[in-house]
Parts: sequence; structure tokens; C-alpha cells
Amino acid sequence: MSWQTRIDAAISARKQAAAFRVRQPNRGGSARFLTQGDLRYLNFSGNDYLGLSQDAAVIAAWQQGAQKYGVGSGGSGHVTGYSDAHAEFEEQLAAWQGYPRALLFISGFAANQAILAALMQSEDRVLADKLSHASLLEAAAHAPSQLRRFHHNQPDSLQGLLEKPVTGETLVVTEGVFSMDGDAAPLADLHRLSQAHGSWLMVDDAHGVGVTGEQGRGSCWQQGVRPELLVVTFGKAFGCSGAAVLCDDATADYLLQFARHLIYSTAMPAAQVCALQASLARIQQDDGLRDKLAANIARFRAGAAGLPYRLTGSQTAIQPVIVGENQPALDLAARLRERGLWVSAIRPPTVPPGSARLRITLTAAHRPEDIDFLLESLHGCSH
Ligand SMILES: Cc1ncc(COP(=O)(O)O)c(C=O)c1O
Repeated sequence: MSWQTRIDAAISARKQAAAFRVRQPNRGGSARFLTQGDLRYLNFSGNDYLGLSQDAAVIAAWQQGAQKYGVGSGGSGHVTGYSDAHAEFEEQLAAWQGYPRALLFISGFAANQAILAALMQSEDRVLADKLSHASLLEAAAHAPSQLRRFHHNQPDSLQGLLEKPVTGETLVVTEGVFSMDGDAAPLADLHRLSQAHGSWLMVDDAHGVGVTGEQGRGSCWQQGVRPELLVVTFGKAFGCSGAAVLCDDATADYLLQFARHLIYSTAMPAAQVCALQASLARIQQDDGLRDKLAANIARFRAGAAGLPYRLTGSQTAIQPVIVGENQPALDLAARLRERGLWVSAIRPPTVPPGSARLRITLTAAHRPEDIDFLLESLHGCSH
């Protein structure tokens, strides 16, 4: 098969399955509103759960950081890209999360790839929740170790896999809050089991950190669990982008030697780190943001109960409305769009076949009347 035939075949298969992806440029707004062309939509599709991407203090911190450091870091952290702001923020993150060390990465995707590539060897195995994010499953698939997946949020299924012999080490991998279902992992059970088998637990808490737990410390803190490796990302509740891994001293030193995404990639700009420090301060100090989000979640769940679609048990900002097949999910999203609501349809392979959905996300920036309008529109569009 030629390159052209292969590419054409893949594209037409996607189109036939109503699964062809396109991007739509917007003119700004990642919290309450999103503007496209001349139209302003209420945005229920982003991950800016606390609305911090538009926060005046965070924006000012980025601007001041750019004045001080310029806009680029100028190199890998191992060369010249690691500033005093990076060092200070890593210390702040470690203290906040109660770990000896934090290491910054340019994205959660890079962090997950780097950690698994650096740690896993051919005699090892990764045991991952079946619904883990693509950045984790893909990293595990590319690592030289074996990959086995346990049933979603089922510690018994993990236990069955842990009982099978392995020559090397085992890393258990899960999300804290699942990105497409919004449900929380049973972290205490997963950690207890992994410890009982001498394994390590890695939790990717991209969707929990900032949103849950005291001072927004996230799912692990909320459930009283301290995994050996915790990944937090800054593209969601922090309203920015980037990620960090929290771990012990030896693991941090090891990653600094072997995590290729750190060594061979330009470090996050220091100005962005300044913005992240301002976001962290808001997350730590402003329970009011989390209270607003919680009230919006409760309001949505109460009103969504009568919809003719399956909802998940999610108590988080991610509230999927599961439609089933691709085309009906796309049609429902289009009808909502006509009413001024920006809600994305998520289709396989991002979610399992037959579970195409509207991935509705709520934020602290939404007002109660926004939630009511969303509910009214969902009820109106679903007949
Ligand atoms: C659970 C999870 N992990 C990792 C990532 C990737 O993080 P980033 O967007 O910072 O690359 C995402 C992002 O969408 C995610 O949902």
C-alpha cells in the first residue's frame, strides 16, 4: 500500500464512522464564554474548571514574568532553561502536596511519556486502569515492559493481575478523576493492593488537582493516599499548561538523568511559571472558587436526572451525557450549538465504541442561570 493509499483509507474510514476530527478556531475565551466568528457561546467544553485562565492576578503575573525573564526559557532545564522561578515553584508544589520533590514538565502528556519510558524495563509490567488517558496507555504501550489493563475502577480485577508472577517491577497506573467519565478512582484500595504486592502506584490527577481536597490538593489528598508517583497538570484547574511529577528524592534525581522529555526539550518559560505560581496561590487560598463549582455541579446533576440519556455517577466538574452512537451525539451537540451552547461530542476511539457522549464540563465561572439554560436546552433538544 502506498503512503497516499494508506492515508486516504484511514481518512475515509474515519469519515464513514462519523469520527473524523476537525478543529474550529475561536477568537478567545476558555472559561464561561467562547467566541467564534461573531458569535459568543456559553462554554461547557473546556477544562478551565476554576476559570483561572481569565484571572486578573494570573494574567498580571505572566506579564510581569515576561518583563523580567522574556518570553522563552532559552533551552532545556539541563542547560540554561531552569530559572530561580522554576526552582521556587517546584519547592512550592512539593510543600503543597507533601512530597520531597516536584519536577516540572511542559505538559502532562510529556510527563507521562517520560516517566514510563525512564522507569520501565523489559522484565517489568504496567497494570493500568482500562479507561486511563491516552497519554498513559500510549506511554505504557511504547515502554519495553508488558502492559495489562484492569477493569475500570475495579480493585478485584487489579488484584487478579497483581497475583500473576512477574520477573521485574510492577507499576500500577490510574487517573485520580477520569477524564471522560468524571468518576473518581478508589485510590485507597488500589494503593493498598499495590503496596501489598511490592508495586508502585502512579496517579495522574490532571482532573482532580485544584478541584478537590483541602486547598485543592486533589484526589489523593482527599482520599488520604500518597502514591509513589503523582502527576499533576496545569492545563485544567490551573488555567494554564504544563505538569509536574511529585516523588521522592531518589526518583527525582533518577528522572533528571533519564527522563528524555526533560533533558532534550526546551523548558517551560519562566513567565509561565510565574503565572502558575499565581494560580497556585488562588487555588490554595480561594475555597470560594471550589464552592461555586460544587454548587454548579449539584445544580446540573439535580436538573439532568430526567434526561433520556445515561449519566455517570460523577460528582466532579466532568458531567458526561452518554448518547451512544456517533451521529446522534454530533446532532445533539449541533442543536445545542444553535442555541448558543458550546458542548463537544466525544467519540471513539477517545471513548469506548457505542458510548459517544457530550462531555459537559462545568466551571466556577459559570453562573446558576448558565446551568439552568444548559439544562433547559438539553431537555428541549433531546426529543
Ligand atoms: C488524565 C490526563 N492526563 C494527561 C493529560 C495530558 O495533559 P496535558 O494536556 O498537559 O498534555 C490529560 C489531558 O488532556 C488528561 O486528561
